[in-house]
This record gives sequence, structure tokens and C-alpha cells, in this order.
Amino acid sequence: MTFPNVRLRRLRKSKKIRELLEEVRLSPKDLICPIFVQEDLKSRMQVESMPDIERLPIKDVVSEVNSIANLKIPAVMIFGIPATKDDKGTSAFAQNGVVQKAISEIRKNLGNEIAIMADVCLCQYTSAGHCGLVKGDKIDNDSSLDVLTKIAVSQAQAGVDVVSPSAMMDGQVKAIRHGLDDAGFTDVVIMSHSAKHRSSLYSPFRDMAHCAPQFGDRKTYQLPYTNPTEAMREVEADISEGVDIVMIKPALAYLDLIAKTRSSFNIPISAYSVSGEYSLVKAAAMQGWIDENEVTLEILTAIKRAGADMIVTYLSKIAAKTLNG
Ligand code: PBG
Ligand code: ZN
Repeated sequence: MTFPNVRLRRLRKSKKIRELLEEVRLSPKDLICPIFVQEDLKSRMQVESMPDIERLPIKDVVSEVNSIANLKIPAVMIFGIPATKDDKGTSAFAQNGVVQKAISEIRKNLGNEIAIMADVCLCQYTSAGHCGLVKGDKIDNDSSLDVLTKIAVSQAQAGVDVVSPSAMMDGQVKAIRHGLDDAGFTDVVIMSHSAKHRSSLYSPFRDMAHCAPQFGDRKTYQLPYTNPTEAMREVEADISEGVDIVMIKPALAYLDLIAKTRSSFNIPISAYSVSGEYSLVKAAAMQGWIDENEVTLEILTAIKRAGADMIVTYLSKIAAKTLNG
């Protein structure tokens, strides 16, 4: 017999030994819960392609966010669905816009009980449904930066903690950082969708947020999933522009990029487990083919194991309820 006799099963012999040896521990504190607020809505509305996820009227936002905070989830990410869209995305930076109202209501009623994050993009607010402004048949980068900056500043005025630009316009972090600093919001955090891929896993979200592009697709700004080196260059570019937290999106099919970011850079990493990832789990669970709670913990732990510090996920409430016991 060779010595030492390696018997790894010793490490799994009882529940308590297994608990002691856990290397990655998922906590509700790792989670960011997205919420959808719709301006012209009277009561909560189910989203067909995302079972158990609802669009909220503004009057229900505080109670929903309060119940999220009670699950020990430290942050919400607000997405808005405005009543009106135009060419310039005016409703995205209106002082009394739907997201701005939601932010100030949460801040007024819940103080610092939960961190308030908000999406910064144009696709829900423009008639064309693109993440930047349209010029001719193109998505114009530099004029979009001015509007994205206005959105971020208006959210900061409403009391946001973290702005999260998701437009994938070049230079968006730099423009927003300058805009926030010039307006005196030096302590507003930027969590950029740094490596956001063009993904078919976004379709339930587009259903929910009414932001599908009305012509063409998002391939001239979102990353192709074939190019991991280019994804790392996006992360690097955001870091050079002063981003505080980078994001990899989607999550589950992109764990390699999360791990690569972890080993290449010293920066907090968020992963966005997108709508399609949620709907895949939910659909199978509703058929009784998988255990929703168990699969949720397995997937989110894997995302953390790959190197994510935090996870934006529609599974937040399910996970937190299970983890809180
Ligand atoms: C749009 C946006 C999208 C998502 C977040 N912000 C969709 C898209 O780019 O088409 C997707 C998130 C999800 O699927 O959960 N800026
Ligand atoms: Zn967008």
C-alpha cells in the first residue's frame, strides 16, 4: 500500500464535517434583486415568460423592496418602463421619471436599509428600442454618451447608490464618471455592464421591459459570445475609465469569463444571471423535472465559485428564502 493513504471521503463523512469544509458559501448578501417598475400601471402584473416575476406600479415599490430587504438581500436593481418613448429617450432622465420616482420613494421610506441600484440605458425609453440614439440607420456612440450621463445624474439626484450602465457604448463609464463628479456626486458607484454579450437569453426580459429593438439587432454594440479576448478588453477598458464594479453578463454560460476576470484584475466582479437563465430553471421546475430550490443554490454557488463577488438574479428571493431557512 502506498502511504499516505489518500481517502478524500473522510472529508465528507458527516454533515458537520461537510459544513466545516465548505469552500464557497452562498449568502443572501451576495445577491442583487432586479425590480421592474412601470409608470402607467395600476396594479402588479405577472410577466408571462418569467413566472412569479411581476411588473410593479410605483405605489407598490416600497413594500416590495421592503420585503426584499427583510430577506437580507442587500441591494435592488431598478429597471423602468416609462409611459412614453421618443427619439431622444427624454423619459429616461426626467426628474419625475418612473425610475427617479422609485428611487426617491425607496430612499424616503427605507433610508439605508437597502442599497439602491438603477439601470442606465436607453432601450426602454426610445422609440427605436436601441441602447443608444439612432442616427440614420446606425446607433450613434458619442451622442448617446451625453444622454446616458444625464440619466445617471438624474438618478443620483433622486438618491441612487449605484448606477449601472448597460448600453455597451464605448466610453460610457468615463462620460458618466465625469458627469457625476461635475454634479457633485463623487460617491455614486458605477457598476458597468462591462462584458455584456449579445444573447438569446435576454428574450424574456425584452418581453417584460418592452425594449426589443424595432429594427436590426444589438450586434454592433453587444459582444459576440465567440470572443473571450475581446470581452477581457471591454473589462480592461472600463477599469481604465474608472469603473468601480465590473459585470459579466450573462452568467451561467460565461463562467470562464468570470474566472478570467477574477485572475486578471483586482476589481469587484458582479455577474448578471439573466432572464433566460431564470426562465430555464422555472420552466423545468414547473414541470416537476427539477427541484427549483436546489438547482437555484447550485447555479448561484457555481457563479460565485467562478469568482463573482455578487450576482444580479431573478432567483434572489427563492435563494434567500432557502438560505435563511
Ligand atoms: C437592455 C438590457 C437587457 C437586459 C438588461 N438590460 C436586454 C438587452 O440588452 O436586450 C437583459 C437582462 C435579462 O435578460 O435579464 N439594456
Ligand atoms: Zn439597453
